[in-house]
Amino acid sequence: MSNSKKDTVTLIDNSTGKEIELPILRPSNGTPTIDVRGLYRELGYFTYDPGFLSTASCRSSITFLDGEKGVLQYGGYPIEQLAKHSTFLEVCYLLLDGELPNEKELKQFTTIITCHTMLHEALKRFYSGFRRDAHPMAIMVGTVGALSAFYHDDIDIRNPEHRIIAAHQLIAKMPTIAAWSYRYANGLPFTYPKNNLSYAENFLHMMFSMPTEEYTPDPYYVKALDLIMILHADHEQNASTSTVRLTGSSEANPFAAVAAGIASLWGPAHGGANESVIRMLVDIVDSDKDAQYYIDRAKDKSNKFRLMGFGHRVYKSHDPRAIIIRQTCHDLLKNLGENNEYQELFDTAMELEKIALEDEYFVSRNLYPNVDFYSGIILLAMGIPLNMFTVIFSMSRTVGWISHWNEMIQDPESRIGRPRQLYNGALPRDYVDIKTR
Ligand code: CMC
Repeated sequence: MSNSKKDTVTLIDNSTGKEIELPILRPSNGTPTIDVRGLYRELGYFTYDPGFLSTASCRSSITFLDGEKGVLQYGGYPIEQLAKHSTFLEVCYLLLDGELPNEKELKQFTTIITCHTMLHEALKRFYSGFRRDAHPMAIMVGTVGALSAFYHDDIDIRNPEHRIIAAHQLIAKMPTIAAWSYRYANGLPFTYPKNNLSYAENFLHMMFSMPTEEYTPDPYYVKALDLIMILHADHEQNASTSTVRLTGSSEANPFAAVAAGIASLWGPAHGGANESVIRMLVDIVDSDKDAQYYIDRAKDKSNKFRLMGFGHRVYKSHDPRAIIIRQTCHDLLKNLGENNEYQELFDTAMELEKIALEDEYFVSRNLYPNVDFYSGIILLAMGIPLNMFTVIFSMSRTVGWISHWNEMIQDPESRIGRPRQLYNGALPRDYVDIKTR
């Protein structure tokens, strides 16, 4: 091994006296990583790390995150700068390519995405197989998975051009699939995409326009949706992205791999948090108690209740996305004016935010409102139904998923994902005939 002592850690097996020097891999930014690949071969041990708390599952150059400092960067660009100056489609280009596009490249990319927004007409019939009350996320899992049936034979995943075409198709078609899941559940006619609209405008148009009258999306909503999509576009190796990588590691069809990612995102511990924020606000408004009562309940250790939309597993100082989106949320509520149908919910949210930001319990534990607190309120203010919140998240995250899939397929170190286990079951025993059991 050519590593100097400084670049290794030594692991000693006290039961046998054997030792192994494990190389330390240095990232371009962030936490050094111990390469344990030789461990089983040399010492005959696996490592145990449920939930991957200390395990890097791959090398990646797409997104950098530092939870202690509250840093999020796509391709090295701070999320604050991208949120201020960029657009969702430009961010998509950056995540896929690793570099920001020049004007010509962005124009070309925008044209390609705009030209792929239509769905195969046969896919329309697929929707009618779902019950009317199907959750839109169930429709998303099914329909995106079904895209693999339409594109399977055309894709050679070892061909970089084919991979990029698949990425473009997914980014382009997600808003149409997402909006149609809402239209179907509400018995509304499917609305076709329009090429003269921006990505966010097109989604709002397909969600809300009616054949009977003109619909122009509110520019405030278009801007807010674009921002929400930028902030949710990638978050390195989260559960759904890791699911897409693991599924794709068997060389599965990328549309099927992304469908697996959507399924993972659907869980309340992952993409469902903004929905929980609104459900909590509804509970508070419907109760006869005030915001302070719920704050006290969240602080009470004998009570399991937690303030939804506060705290974060990775961001321990602050969630940089929440800081960016907070102002948009406040501006949007101001723009809506008073006496709108959700006024009481919004007042309650602002009261909770105010009390929590000043309360010693929350301040000392760094329990600031996270991105989902604000994105939930913004989506509600835009008239987006609650069960579409995670669908919008999946639409935004598709570019992250497919960029990671593309990176994984190209990575010479990447192999089929196959975790080990710590077996706790029965020892070998003989089969017993059913009559004598
Ligand atoms: N309300 C009240 N107390 C809380 C909350 C909360 N929302 N979150 C954490 N705490 C307390 C917790 O009781 C503990 O107190 P103590 O030190 O006295 O025992 C301390 O803060 C640390 O909490 P933790 O459980 O160790 O923190 P964690 O990193 O395991 O949990 C979390 C992070 C996000 C699961 C948690 O903060 C939480 O449940 N928040 C509410 C749900 C939520 O908003 N989830 C969305 C997260 S963003 C998702 C995304 O980025 O995709």
